[in-house]
Amino acid sequence: MQRLQDRVAVITGAGSGIGLATARRFAEEGAKVVCVDLDEPTGAKAADEVGGLFVRADVTNEDDVVAMYRTAFDTYGSVDIAFNNAGISPPDDDSILETGIEAWRRVQEVNLTSVYLCCKHAIPYMQRQGKGSIINTASFVAVMGSATSQISYTASKGGVLAMSRELGVQFAREGIRVNALCPGPVNTPLLQELFAKDPERAQRRLVHIPLGRFAEAGEIAAAVAFLASDDASFITGSEFLVDGGISGA
Ligand code: NAI
Repeated sequence: MQRLQDRVAVITGAGSGIGLATARRFAEEGAKVVCVDLDEPTGAKAADEVGGLFVRADVTNEDDVVAMYRTAFDTYGSVDIAFNNAGISPPDDDSILETGIEAWRRVQEVNLTSVYLCCKHAIPYMQRQGKGSIINTASFVAVMGSATSQISYTASKGGVLAMSRELGVQFAREGIRVNALCPGPVNTPLLQELFAKDPERAQRRLVHIPLGRFAEAGEIAAAVAFLASDDASFITGSEFLVDGGISGA
């Protein structure tokens, strides 16, 4: 199956978890993969493994974001797919009563402002090509909220969802599809870090997932590859839930 043959895909947060699994899946499906990460060893390792290109970038830095798409274009000749996925977990006590303004701002910066920057600088390439697919990683909490205190995280992901809807509508006539990916809990270092701090949180989450387990990153990557491909040609502006049924329970 080569649904993404020769498409140029830029993936942020490609060194770990969902981004890494997606880099692998995109490469399997024929894409030329640009692996972007703040962390050089893991990002470079991912690029090496998938036969792609590593670009070190901090997605909160506009110059870095501009440079990563320019590098992708200069190397491979187009920017067809942007998977804006890099993100961080909530601070330790993320209830609205406890979260400080600096922690709040940091989460918005990494999880939401980064997506604004990545869309802003990917779209002009796609406009010139008359086509493109953008997938922004939100979360199931953007749709349903969370009883576990994580207000800065939930708000940032709600912003990603709303922005994706608007961009999906705004750029549809130019052949650019924009979708918000909303994963349920996924077994990645981000989730493991959260559960290590609060082991009971894992059990509390698990009982609410109808499929009875956390997702593996490869299951999320399969959905991203679908959204990136022409199989999803009539899907834009969507909240694409891959959540084991948690939002319907
Ligand atoms: P992860 O922690 O395994 O990977 C995140 C990657 O992003 C890391 O390689 C990290 O170095 C990179 N990164 C962080 N800040 C960066 C920055 N400023 N610039 C460039 N790269 C940066 O996390 P995971 O679980 O794969 O999460 C990926 C996305 O999925 C995040 O946006 C997360 O919020 C979201 N998500 C994760 C869920 C989960 O249960 N794991 C559930 C729903 C959404």
